[in-house]
Amino acid sequence: MSSNKPLATKKVFIKTYGCQMNVYDSDRMADALAPAGYAATQDQNDADLILLNTCHIREKAAEKVYSELGRLRKVKGERAALGKETMIGVAGCVAQAEGEEIARRADVVNLVVGPQSYQALPDMVARASQGERVVVTEFPDEDKFDAIGMTPKKVLASRGPTAFLTVQEGCDKFCTFCVVPYTRGAEVSRDVAKILGEARAMAEAGVHEITLLGQNVNAYHGLGPDGEPWSLAKLLHALAEIDGLWRLRYTTSHPRDMDDDLINAHRDLPQVMPYLHLPVQSGSDRILKAMNRRHTGDEYRRLIDRIRQAQPDLALSGDFIVGFPGETDQDFEDTMQLIRDVEYAAAFSFKYSPRPGTPGALMDDHVPEDVMTQRLHALQALITSQQQAFQQSRVGLSFPVLFEKKGRNPGQLVGRSPWLQPVNVQAPDSMLRTMQTVTITHTGTNSLFADLTESGQTSTVEPLLEAAS
Ligand code: SAH
Ligand code: SF4
Ligand code: F3S
Repeated sequence: MSSNKPLATKKVFIKTYGCQMNVYDSDRMADALAPAGYAATQDQNDADLILLNTCHIREKAAEKVYSELGRLRKVKGERAALGKETMIGVAGCVAQAEGEEIARRADVVNLVVGPQSYQALPDMVARASQGERVVVTEFPDEDKFDAIGMTPKKVLASRGPTAFLTVQEGCDKFCTFCVVPYTRGAEVSRDVAKILGEARAMAEAGVHEITLLGQNVNAYHGLGPDGEPWSLAKLLHALAEIDGLWRLRYTTSHPRDMDDDLINAHRDLPQVMPYLHLPVQSGSDRILKAMNRRHTGDEYRRLIDRIRQAQPDLALSGDFIVGFPGETDQDFEDTMQLIRDVEYAAAFSFKYSPRPGTPGALMDDHVPEDVMTQRLHALQALITSQQQAFQQSRVGLSFPVLFEKKGRNPGQLVGRSPWLQPVNVQAPDSMLRTMQTVTITHTGTNSLFADLTESGQTSTVEPLLEAAS
């Protein structure tokens, strides 16, 4: 529709909520809109098109959208007073879950687009600019990323040395608390060739670390070039062959899909970082059953043992929900015991939020708010102490850090440790996008502080990669 228009005559501002997949999608929405003449801007007052890429996972996340739309009404009015038009769109999981309802509730909204329809954005924007209110929440058969096409090298390079890459989307697990199977649809894996092509393009643009994304990333079973479905482990082995890709991560995994090949990839591939996000949600078998997680607390413990046998120096992270319907003090204590047994390096924890359309919302025995608050505080205090112990155990160690961006203080760069903590180091800007060996001096609340390791000094942990030296 707009291929003969001059490039970048308009600006789009995209605000991202929710998970890393939304971060990746926001970039891909910008890619989809570029041929229609939109350049990305960080300044919403300067934007002809404002897109909210939303999250529906908990009530609070979904509510944010409506308060933001209230604010945007003012922005739109102020720009209109200057004779400028502003189009407003809602994308992401709230768009999928609520569709037309958003347009009804907030008349400031010009378009609503679900997560599987971003390839339709240029057409939707063209229709919306003719005064139509456009809602697209279909689950088309084609891969939306195919239709959007490859991100240009210059754009990839501008996004920094680390990148997300969606390899699997949607979920067939239907945990009884969760909206994702409804907002993202059925589990679909992208083809191996497409993923490798995208990863190679990223590496050529100077990306050194890729995090593979999927709601159930370890259930990945994309079609390989040999006509067979490939597992995530096999995909990781192929990605590890790509020059310039020093680090690989993947998230989020489900305990049921953690197979031996994937566990062994943590042992055999130096590029696969010693970090695993493996949510368990609860330590009570009764609650796990009600959540439809399809594993017990002990099965999870045994799985963690196997993973740690393959990679003893693993930072384990998780997600927990407190106050799922029917959760008793004993159930909660079982969760606390599981956390004590497993020892996490980090974790995210949430009060249960009943979501419309999920089985959990219809269950009896909802837990009172004040009980949830108490449980959340206790759980978070335990996790914080484990996180601090993990961070403390890094003090004095030397390991490679990939410098991603400038730090808060002058002369400071920030990168990630192999175990995902941000590491702050006094280092020259010329070291941005490089991997350097650093020695940890002390810990902050959620981060580590380090000095550059003098060259010639030997590292106290096995150097993870040759590229680091
Ligand atoms: N695919 C991931 C989860 C994505 S949602 C997985 O399978 O683990 C991220 C986290 O949000 C979940 O792990 C869960 O802890 C939390 N969550 C999901 N639905 C929730 C709800 N209704 N209330 C509270 N927390 C929820
Ligand atoms: Fe949601 Fe469960 Fe699927 Fe994770 S596995 S996305 S928690 S339904
Ligand atoms: Fe939220 Fe959708 Fe991600 S509900 S967590 S943005 S998959």
